[in-house]
Amino acid sequence: MSFPKNFVWGAAAAAYQIEGAWNEDGRGPSIWDVFSHEPGKVFDNHNGDVACDHYHRWREDIDLMREVGLQAYRMSVAWPRLQPTGTGKPNAKGLAFYDRLIDGLLDAGITPWVTLFHWDLPYALHQRGGFLNRDFVEWFGDYAGLVAAKLGDRVKHWMTFNEPPVIMGLGHHEGRFAPGLVLPLSDCLLGAHHLLMAHGRAVQALRAGCRGRVKISIAHTARERIPVQEDRRTIEAARRDYFSSTAPNLWNLAWWADPIVFGRYPADGVQAFGRAMPKVTAADLRLISQKIDFLAYNCYTGWQIRADAQGRPERVPGGFGAGNPRGTLSWLEIAPSALYWAARFQTERYRLPLVFSENGFCNTDFVHDPQRIDFLARYLAGIKRAVQEDIPVAGYFHWSIMDNFEWIEGYKDRFGLVHVDYQTQKRTLKDSAYWYREVIRQNGANL
Ligand code: FCB
Repeated sequence: MSFPKNFVWGAAAAAYQIEGAWNEDGRGPSIWDVFSHEPGKVFDNHNGDVACDHYHRWREDIDLMREVGLQAYRMSVAWPRLQPTGTGKPNAKGLAFYDRLIDGLLDAGITPWVTLFHWDLPYALHQRGGFLNRDFVEWFGDYAGLVAAKLGDRVKHWMTFNEPPVIMGLGHHEGRFAPGLVLPLSDCLLGAHHLLMAHGRAVQALRAGCRGRVKISIAHTARERIPVQEDRRTIEAARRDYFSSTAPNLWNLAWWADPIVFGRYPADGVQAFGRAMPKVTAADLRLISQKIDFLAYNCYTGWQIRADAQGRPERVPGGFGAGNPRGTLSWLEIAPSALYWAARFQTERYRLPLVFSENGFCNTDFVHDPQRIDFLARYLAGIKRAVQEDIPVAGYFHWSIMDNFEWIEGYKDRFGLVHVDYQTQKRTLKDSAYWYREVIRQNGANL
């Protein structure tokens, strides 16, 4: 059995995690530059100043992608490279970099899928209130417009934001990621509302500024809810838990996705958050609910769910059981059916095709990485099951094409198909890269 004929096989990376060249050619500082330069914020005080030096080595990196056989590459553009202070005149050198990169990818037969915002907010905008400032909506819309004007003749696949729960949750509520704020839930819900409106504004700008038909989404993420057994009661409990929006944090998937697809916030969350809710107008919701073309989704791990005596969802105590394998980051509990349940639940509810915009495994390996191959084989079997059941999964982007700066974990944990020696910047394909190449070549028939 093969995957659907047009299934897209790709891999992903993000600007701050690979580019380096943090202060070259007019790039302005982002919140991640400032945060990672603050002692104690990142493992061993690593930062993205050099990272994989992709800014200078992009040609070599495209060659590697071609060697892996990628059909598509999910990248992000760095806002502070294009608008050093976040607004105003574009930086020509920054634009020229992405211009060349896009041409290089297309010449190599690799389709670029571009994310506008993968966490590197221009620091100057943070100083002006960042997401909490209503003007953010227009700042982001203008930025999207200038990217569309420059790259929209060639780029047809777009994502606005990467992982809103990390931006607002880890960045503004829990304080663990840049900008490191610990704000009350009410402020975060306001920031989230602005983020969603900015998404809508960007969708409008992309449709207006790109040539021809474009496909647009926003890359969401959540913890999957995996029914511990596959009877109707348990599945229903898992579904209910997955789309519940009552947890007093920024991790509720439906909180982010319902307004975009349905044009309204989930009623259970509105009730649960009560006085913490921002003021929401009908015009706001119209802006937020611009039509999107697919669901982009980053999927790594999940919780097992069972139904209690009343049919209510509860997490299975002890997770997946003692000794269940994990990546070197403890949150990455191996849950192979995560991709299947994510695709099934989300496409049922939102009635759009789904593309996995990230999924991958971290280790501290060199080039022999049997665990990553094992991870991939098990997880991809979840997509295989989904497509066999006619669940519309349209693509898969492995995280990541190469080892890179893993945010607060620095360079400690490696997610790449390609090994990077950070001392020499030498790249080497791992065993998993060759394995994945064969999956791509056979369009999944060997899974
Ligand atoms: C996701 C991020 C990505 C990478 C992976 C491991 O949350 O989007 O940049 O760090 O996790």
